[in-house]
Amino acid sequence: MQLTGNDDAAYWAAVDKHVLRYGAHFEPHIIVRAEGSYVFDAEGRGILDFTSGQMSAILGHSHPRIVETIRRQSAELDHLYSGMLAPPVVSLAGRLGTLAPGLEKVLLLSTGAESNEAALRLAKLVTGKHEIVAFSKSWHGLTGAASSVTFSGGRTGYGPAASGSFAIPAPDAYRPRFTHADGSLDWQTELDDAFNLVDSQSTGSLAAFIAEPILSSGGILDLPEGYLAALKQKCEEREMLLILDEAQTGLGRTGTMFAFQRDGVTPDILTLSKTLGAGMALSAVLTSTEIEEKAHDKNYIFYTTHVSDPLPAAVGLTVLDVVEEEGLAERAVALGNRFRSGLCDLQQKYDCIGDVRGRGLMVGLEFVEDRQSKLSDGEIANRISHQAMQRGLSMNIARRPPTVLAGSVKTGGTGGVFRIAPPLTVSEEEIDKALDIINDAISAALSA
Ligand SMILES: Cc1ncc(COP(=O)(O)O)c(C=O)c1O
Repeated sequence: MQLTGNDDAAYWAAVDKHVLRYGAHFEPHIIVRAEGSYVFDAEGRGILDFTSGQMSAILGHSHPRIVETIRRQSAELDHLYSGMLAPPVVSLAGRLGTLAPGLEKVLLLSTGAESNEAALRLAKLVTGKHEIVAFSKSWHGLTGAASSVTFSGGRTGYGPAASGSFAIPAPDAYRPRFTHADGSLDWQTELDDAFNLVDSQSTGSLAAFIAEPILSSGGILDLPEGYLAALKQKCEEREMLLILDEAQTGLGRTGTMFAFQRDGVTPDILTLSKTLGAGMALSAVLTSTEIEEKAHDKNYIFYTTHVSDPLPAAVGLTVLDVVEEEGLAERAVALGNRFRSGLCDLQQKYDCIGDVRGRGLMVGLEFVEDRQSKLSDGEIANRISHQAMQRGLSMNIARRPPTVLAGSVKTGGTGGVFRIAPPLTVSEEEIDKALDIINDAISAALSA
């Protein structure tokens, strides 16, 4: 396709005519190629990609070893009948199954939602129960069962969710609902209170809790240390399974291979996606031998076209190699500290920055109307995002317009939080450049 620039009329006419709108706000830049931490538009401008594509490209774009793996594997063995296994699949299952002790059985799929579907089916079959609990700001995907436990958007207008889908609030240290005497978050009381509500609604069929260790679409809410252990205990008391969805937090981004390792808590089921293929569609479900055996005895089925496909599995192996050999989890800690410290300096300078949060290279930057009310300010965040893009930095706002339920009742609107997750291969210079751009963008947005 020949383009005259980002304004190419024929291109945008084709978008209008043929691209079904699926809920994204389409960027006006036409991206024609990407390399490392940059994407390049139709006018040759480099834009720092601080969302790692869709929070996935942890090795940056077109990493030479991924390019080489795709070339080699696609020429050798790409896709197979779903009942045939191939060496890259068995090797990746083995690598993942030893990375997370206690989760040695691995199923390889394509997308995040799909991995959660498989995990939820597993939990329901093994426990013989059907109720699932999640956080009220969760995002686990938009397929059937996954969307039933996705509470941060996309529920209105699609008919009934699965019966027995319950939500509890996620702990939020910036806006605590329950506090200790010193004003800090009392997450234990909040969790106890939430489970009292779950118990009163349950029909005695609680199968699983599904959680992101850091809620991403919910606005980068990091579960405080100790929370996961307490949640696991709540699950054990009710003979429910704990499913952790590490679509975004997995593979080093938060400073450990998996985010749950900070807490010393192993889930019953772990799902990985986005970062596992670093941009290629690859996801995984990990569980214990015991759960897998119970499921198999009950004829567990999750049979898809692309289950156990060799090409994405080979990519996953290369992703793991690079994450380990280049020490990307350690880099995420060092560069995340550098980035957050720069953002905290900006917070001293600009009152509109309410909070800087996150772990490793998964960072939340929240803009507020004022620091007393802490009302999230989506309008200024939008202006800053626009200014940053003009200056060559792409950051994602958890941008979701409220859904009108009925009359004047609205729900779900967010908009003041940037979710910033650069590739783990980002350089110090690129971090510093992004900080300069954010500074300039805030200043321009405030004076506009
Ligand atoms: C935590 C989490 N789980 C699951 C998903 C769904 O993944 P996919 O869009 O690949 O189906 C997402 C997507 O944003 C996610 O953030």
